[in-house]
Amino acid sequence: MPYREQIDKSRIPAHVAIIMDGNGRWAKQRGQARSFGHQAGAETVHIIAEEAARLGVKYLTLYTFSTENWNRPQHEVNVLMHLFAKTFIDELPLLKRENVRVVFLGDISALPKKTRDVFERGLAECADHTGMTLALAVNYGARAEITRAVRQIALDAAAGKIDPA
Ligand code: IPE
Ligand code: MG
Repeated sequence: MPYREQIDKSRIPAHVAIIMDGNGRWAKQRGQARSFGHQAGAETVHIIAEEAARLGVKYLTLYTFSTENWNRPQHEVNVLMHLFAKTFIDELPLLKRENVRVVFLGDISALPKKTRDVFERGLAECADHTGMTLALAVNYGARAEITRAVRQIALDAAAGKIDPA
């Protein structure tokens, strides 16, 4: 039986989050460069996003690039940033066809200008979409999130909006 028919449509999870990992090892096993694995990962994302949207998943979160990932060799960071921009452009037709809402988790203002521009233009083009939410975690990090939250709390306390007690 095809896998689609085996899926119980009454039990589709509301939120699926995927930590993308193993691209480099996958490529190495095939005697290829890490970038080959990243490209294959992007192609897998296409399949997953399309199926998730069709099955009625409400939120698909993809952990794409963490704040720690900046520590990778500069060449690999460049490859990834270029791949993010290219993939986002390539996927715009899918995002439109499936009415996918896009949000970014993390600070995209720190990305190279070209990648940031592509993301911002894409966000604008998808602004009126009402279907599945695709949350792309890019330049995100648990430490960065905690720092940002605590800083906001400290500001609110200093402004007398909240009681430190
Ligand atoms: C995930 O695969 C890709 C990103 C974090 C962008 P990895 O690059 O972590 O692959 P491995 O873990 O080294 O195999
Ligand atoms: Mg890894």
